[in-house]
Parts: sequence; structure tokens; C-alpha cells
Amino acid sequence: MSLQTILTNKLRLRHPIVAAPLGRGSTPEFLGALAREGSFGFVALGHMPVAEVRQTLSGYIAAAGSGDRFGVNLVLIADQTRRLEAALDAGCRVVSLLRGDPAPYVRRAKDAGATVFWTVSGPEEARRAAGEGVDFILAQGREAGGHLTGEAPLMTILPAVIDAAPGVPVLAAGGIADGRGVAAALALGACGAWMGTRFIATNESGCHPGHKQLVVESGLSDLVETTLFDVGWPNSPHRVIANSTYENWKAAGCPPTGSRPGEGEAIGTFPEGAPIFRYHVSPPWETMEGEWEAGPLYAGTSAALINKVEPVGQMLTRITAEAEAALQRSTGYIC
Ligand SMILES: Cc1cc2nc3c(=O)[nH]c(=O)nc-3n(C[C@H](O)[C@H](O)[C@H](O)COP(=O)(O)O)c2cc1C
Repeated sequence: MSLQTILTNKLRLRHPIVAAPLGRGSTPEFLGALAREGSFGFVALGHMPVAEVRQTLSGYIAAAGSGDRFGVNLVLIADQTRRLEAALDAGCRVVSLLRGDPAPYVRRAKDAGATVFWTVSGPEEARRAAGEGVDFILAQGREAGGHLTGEAPLMTILPAVIDAAPGVPVLAAGGIADGRGVAAALALGACGAWMGTRFIATNESGCHPGHKQLVVESGLSDLVETTLFDVGWPNSPHRVIANSTYENWKAAGCPPTGSRPGEGEAIGTFPEGAPIFRYHVSPPWETMEGEWEAGPLYAGTSAALINKVEPVGQMLTRITAEAEAALQRSTGYIC
């Protein structure tokens, strides 16, 4: 059995699996490793100063081999026109969009010959995405790690989105961390899996080693959906591992933004030198100094299925083999 799909054909992959953007954890080395191992990664541009996007992306292109061996991700909570232009100018040809109004960005990216992904909140947005001519739709289940766009768990949202956008290939995200999850997504009609949390816990990701270890150690009861880490992105639900910032806020009676414990306190410093304030949206990265554990430790319920930090190549080969085996034995209980 081969797990080749319309996704693997279009992006020239060996595995029907792609890696979500992971904040500063999506380094050129990580995306390069994904490209070499037959997968595909995305880099979030939101935190990059516009003037640096083009030059920064040239480092990614060198690591991945070309501008279509990795993708750029834009969260449209602010005008991202200049970042999109800089990315296209740098030679990037795969773009992922979410929130806001993606339509003008889809048109611009398609005009430049790019492959476009749109993360939808549910079937209604999927119909719009199909009408705008996107290449792939991403259905994100509510189980996901990081910021939550999907309106329902994956088991429901995935078939609903597929039905709403006939003819447009749909990827599944949220709660997938092993081959059984990939098999289930394919069985529900997805063309591939988009995973975030599983990729945090890889040797090559640029996420903080403490974050990787907590993903390995966390069980379902350690994960919470909250809007707590709102500096830079207010009122946006996200799933994290409960940490000291979360526990102290809870112990204080869950006060609203403006009167939370330690608000305005610096927990570290960005590479550019600016302070990182408690409750900021940026997750900790490999070389972050300071109170890395106090930042948002994004993780999905999929953390409960992850029990080791692995090299990317080994993990992808294992998960694809598990998915093939799961699909072959999927009728095992039918008499
Ligand atoms: C550390 C981390 C950072 C993320 N950052 C982004 C982002 O910048 N843009 C985006 O579209 N999704 C982002 N996501 C969400 C993922 O795209 C994806 O929907 C999610 O990870 C899927 O659930 P899973 O973590 O259970 O695999 C992030 C997820 C994690 C874990």
C-alpha cells in the first residue's frame, strides 16, 4: 500500500503529513529536515519585521532547497499585504492563510503561481474558500494545539468541511499524533494530516527543550483551552499545557485582563532585544533565556499520545507505516 495522495503529488512528498508553523520553533534547519525527509513545514511570518522578511526567507529557501519546499503562514488579524509581497518576492510559492478575510491574499498568491491553503472555521468558510479557488482547505478540529480556528472536534468538522467543498482537497489538523490518527483522517476523506504538537517533540524543531519534554510528559488533564495568553492577539482561544502563569492566574480567581498576577512583568527577551511580557502569545524557542516555562506552551490533546522526542525522519517513517497498518486492519472487528 502506498500513502500517496493529491497532497503528496502536488507538494512532492513521501508522507501525507505536513508540519504546522511552530512560532520561532520553525527554524530553517527544521524546515530543511522536513523537506529532506519527504514532508513539508510552514513558517509563520507574523512575528517577523516586514523589512526582514525577504532576507530571512532566503535562509529558509537555502535550507529547504527552493521556495516551494516549505510554506509561509499568515494570520490575517492585521494587514499582511507587505509580508505576503515580501514572501512572494523572495520566491516562496506555498502560502497558508487563516482568520480575517483571506480572499484578496488568495487572489494575489494565485496570481503569483503559489499553492494556497486556507484554514477554515467550519463548513460555511469552506464554501467561501472553495469559491475563491484555494488549492487545499485545512479543517482544524477543536482538539488542536495553539490558536483555535475550528468550531468543532475533528471527527465532525472534517466530514462537514469535505461535504461543503466538493472537489477541493482537505487536510485534517488537531489531535493527530500517530498513524492511527492519520489513517482515520484519510478514512474520513482527508488528503493528509497537518500536525503541530507531534512536531514540537522532534530533535530538529527549534522549540524549547523544556517545551518538548512537557509535551512528552503531559496527559489530557494537563491541557487547557483558554484565552489567557492574549498580549499580541486578544480574545483568541488557544490550547496550552497548564503552566505556572496559568495556575497563578487560576489561584487568583481568574481575574480579567488588566488585573492578572504579574501583568506587565518581563519573563524574557526577544532575540531583537525587546522584553517578552507575561501573557504574550510567543511560545518559548530553543535558545530563549528567562522564564521559558511561564510562556504559552501550546499543545493539543495529541500530547497525550506522544511519549518521546524523535528525529523527524524516524517519526515520519514510523507514522506512515502505522497508518498503512491501521488502514489494512481497519475492518478487524467486523464479523
Ligand atoms: C506551537 C504551535 C504554534 C502554532 N502556531 C500557528 C500559527 O502561527 N499559525 C497557524 O495557522 N497555526 C498555528 N498552530 C496551530 C496548528 O496550525 C495546528 O492547527 C495544530 O497544531 C493542530 O493540532 P495538533 O497540535 O494537535 O497537531 C500552532 C500550533 C502549535 C502547537
